[in-house]
Amino acid sequence: KAGLKTNYIGKHVVYEKSVSSTQEIAHRLAREKVAEGTIVVADEQVGGKGRLGRAWFSPIGTGIWMSMILKPKIPPQRAPQLTLLAAVAVIRGIHAATGLHCDIKWPNDILLKGKKLVGILTEMQADPDQIHSVIIGIGINVNQKNFPDEIKEIATSLSLEKGEDVNRALVMQSIMAEFEQLYELFLKDGFLPIKQMWEAHATTIGRRITARTVSGAIEGFAKGITEDGVLLLEDDFGTIHKIYSADIDF
Ligand code: BTN
Repeated sequence: KAGLKTNYIGKHVVYEKSVSSTQEIAHRLAREKVAEGTIVVADEQVGGKGRLGRAWFSPIGTGIWMSMILKPKIPPQRAPQLTLLAAVAVIRGIHAATGLHCDIKWPNDILLKGKKLVGILTEMQADPDQIHSVIIGIGINVNQKNFPDEIKEIATSLSLEKGEDVNRALVMQSIMAEFEQLYELFLKDGFLPIKQMWEAHATTIGRRITARTVSGAIEGFAKGITEDGVLLLEDDFGTIHKIYSADIDF
C-alpha cells in the first residue's frame, strides 16, 4: 500500500485469503454502495470465473486475482470500452513493473510470447439506461512455475518469462496507477485515445488473419476496431466485415 500513487483506484482494498470468486464479493460490495475504485483481491479463488462461463485457474499465492468496482457516468452500452481500457492499463502496468512487453489478441486476451498471461472479465449492475457499477475482474499469472495439462501449452506467467519470481504488489500498484490515468482520460476525452492505444498494442490489428466465426471462416486484413470493440476485417474483394465473435488465427 505504501507505494500506491493513485487518488481513488485501490485506495480501499478488501483482501481475502481464499474466496470462491473476487467477482462475487465485488458484486456484493457494489450493491452495498462502496466507494468507486474499491478493489477486492484474493490469494486464491476456488471458483474463479472466466469469460463464456469458463473456469479461471487461480491457485494460491501465485497470481493477481482482483476485481475493481467502478461507477462511471456513461450509458451501459459503453461499458465494454472499459474492458479495452483495462487491457491497456494492464499492459502498461506490467511493462512499468517488469520491463516485459505483452500484446493484445482480439477480443481481449493479453499474451506474452503468444501465450495467455492475463484474462479480463467485465460485468455490470445496470438498468437499461443507467450503470450502477461496473466490475472489472483481472486475473494475472505471476509466479506459476507450471500449469495443469489442459492449459500447459497455451498459458504462461511473468516468472516463467523473467526466470525469477515477480513481486505481485508492485505489479498491482503500477496497474492501478496506469488504470487511474487512463480512466481519467476516458471520462474527460472519451474512448478515442484509448482505442488508439489499444490498437497499437493489438497484434491482431494491421495484419492478415483468419477469423473463424460460427457462420464460417473469413480471411483478410484486420483494420481496427469500432467504438464497441467490434473487429473490422477487410477481405480480398475490399469488403469490410464486422466481426462480433470469433477465434482468430494468424
Ligand atoms: C478470461 O476468460 O479470459 C477472463 C478471466 C478473468 C479472471 C479474473 S481473476 C479475478 C476475477 N475473479 C474471477 O472469478 N474472474 C476474474
